[in-house]
Formats: sequence, C-alpha cells, structure tokens
Amino acid sequence: EKNNFDHFMLKEIYEQPNAIKDTYRGRLHAEEGIIRMAGIDDNLERFLNARRIVIVACGTSWHAGLVAEYIFEDLARIPVEVEYASEFRYRNPIINSDDVVIAISQSGETADTMAAIKLAKEKGAFVFGVCNVVGSSISRETNAGAYTHAGPEIGVASTKAFTTQITVLTLIALKLAKAKGSMSNTDFHMHLQELETIPQKIELALEANDHIKEVAFKYKDARNCLYLGRGFNFPVALEGALKLKEISYIHAEGYPAAEMKHGPIALIDEEMPVVVIATRKGHYEKVVSNIQEIKSRQGKIIGIVTEGDTSVRELADHVIEVPDTIESLTPLITTIPLQLLSYHIAVMLGKNVDQPRNLAKSVTVE
Ligand code: M6R
Repeated sequence: EKNNFDHFMLKEIYEQPNAIKDTYRGRLHAEEGIIRMAGIDDNLERFLNARRIVIVACGTSWHAGLVAEYIFEDLARIPVEVEYASEFRYRNPIINSDDVVIAISQSGETADTMAAIKLAKEKGAFVFGVCNVVGSSISRETNAGAYTHAGPEIGVASTKAFTTQITVLTLIALKLAKAKGSMSNTDFHMHLQELETIPQKIELALEANDHIKEVAFKYKDARNCLYLGRGFNFPVALEGALKLKEISYIHAEGYPAAEMKHGPIALIDEEMPVVVIATRKGHYEKVVSNIQEIKSRQGKIIGIVTEGDTSVRELADHVIEVPDTIESLTPLITTIPLQLLSYHIAVMLGKNVDQPRNLAKSVTVE
C-alpha cells in the first residue's frame, strides 16, 4: 500500500499534486472563471451576511485555519477569527446567529472540534465543515460542508490534508470574494489560473528532495530549531515546527519573523538552526533583515527561497528553492520542503515516522 515509498508520510507528501487536483476537480473552472461548490452556493446568503467567520480546529487543521484567516481577510474582506477548538468550547465564547463557523478536521472525529461545533450550533451559528473523511462524525454534524478529497491519510503527521484544506478554503474565499465584488475580475481570474498551476509547482518543489536530505543530515542532531515566516507564511512556520517536533522529537518553535526580537532572539547561537521562509513576496526585505540579525548571532540559516533568489543565498547557510507563485498561494508550496525536512530528520534518527510515540491519528478524547 505504500507503493515504492518507505513510509506513508513520504507517499502522502508526494501525493499532494494529485490530491490538490482531486480537491479542485469539478469545482475550479479557470477558463470560464467559475468556482462551483454546492455547500457554498446553497448557503451563499449566510456567508455574505456573516458579520464574521470563526474557524475552529486543532493541530495542523488549526494551522490551515490560520492560513485561511489571511486569505479570507485579504481576498474576501470578511473578518476572521481562528480558535483552538479546545479553548473555544470552554470559554463561553460570544457567538451570534449571524456568525458563520468553519470547522476544519481531517479525520472528522476530533472530540474538541466536535464539541465546539455543537456549542456553536446551540448558539444559533451556521456551521460549515471542511473534512477529509467522508461520512465522518463532524461531516454529519455540520450544517453544510466541503470535503477535501485528499484520499486516506495514514501517517499520523498530517501532510496532504493540510494542503488540501488550504485549497478548499482558498476556493471558498475566492468564491465569496467574487460574490461580494471585493476583488477585481482580473485579479480573480489570475488567482484561478494560478491555483491551477499549483500541482505542477509542487512537483517542482519535490525535486529538491535530495538536497533537502543533505540539509537534514547536517541538522539531525540539533536539540532545538526555530521556524520563522511572515504574513501568509507565518502559519507555515508553525506547521513546519509541529511537523519536526511530532515525528523527530526535536524541540521546535514557529514564530512570526518580526517577533524574534521580542524574545526568541535570545536563543540564537551557533547551535541553533533557524528555518526562514523568505520567498520573494510580501515583506521580503524585512525577512532578509531578520536573517541578517540571525547571522550576526551565528545562528544557522536554512532559507526557503524563490527560485533564482540571490539576497538570501548570500547570507544563508543553505537555501531550498521553490517555484514562484502569487503571495496568497505561497503556503501551498513553502510547506513542501518543511514536510520533507522533518521527514528525513526523523528517518535519520530512526524514529517511527508514521506512528510517532504518544500520538494517535484521530484524537477522540478531549
Ligand atoms: O483530524 P483533525 O484534523 O481534526 O486532527 C487535528 C489534529 O489532531 C492533527 O492535525 C494533529 O495535530 C496532527 N498529528 C498533526 O500532524
């Protein structure tokens, strides 16, 4: 079942180009400039009249929610709040009947997310599910939804579920942006066309695998690792850190790059690898100056950069190139090298990649 792959995780990382195509098949019609999603079309008024969207999820799905916050607010201009389902359910949240709640869950069985959905429904909110497992408890409990269609995800570390969740959420944001008129037609069409090129660009990002393996070998014995990113790529930094800690048991933290100076910079010395997402879009110059700060403290820099980048290459110890795309879609590409980096480190350390200690694929206890 693993085909020629050593682990399900690696197989699932490589499945992402096809998984994303399966996610947008029948929905994205770039030529015609149409996005078809029954779950949204049938409830369009609820979405358009929503005062805000509240996203609830856990773990990697929560990171997808954070990426969606940037995308929804930027493209559709709808205020978004992203909550850990476990916090939301226990803090007497303010939810109104004109709120739309989006619950994201790969398994569709996560106890905390389920409880958050029930609470939101009790308070009269409309709850929309983004699940991977068809017929799962969450997909049945929600008022409407859209499946990710990523196919079964066996590895405990979530990979293709994350990128397909972002794909579905991007489609929703674009659809709402179009209906609201918050995007120009040209911009809308450009986004649709660019989304269609993402699977091919992920294929290209996967070609860096051998190089990433070399980088992994250099840092496999690190005790700690920092991940930095800004804007759309801040949640990707969080996700990169979660992937590393969960399967290699190396302590890792993700931060918005500019927050470094408010604390984490104290950790930086020649022992500290810092993975910086520094693609040539949004805040690039500012990220380059963050890299300079790390360098002057002897930190080891692994830059995730756009093809052909020179500025970061001059400063970084290693660069991993990814194809260029529009800023809002960069998370779909920058995630790939981070998944591979943590995979190779965990394998080199002899860890059980597909079934890390203390973790279960679906967390059905609170
Ligand atoms: O099935 P869900 O998406 O609801 O699961 C949420 C988290 O338990 C899950 O994403 C977890 O963090 C993964 N092991 C991360 O790789």
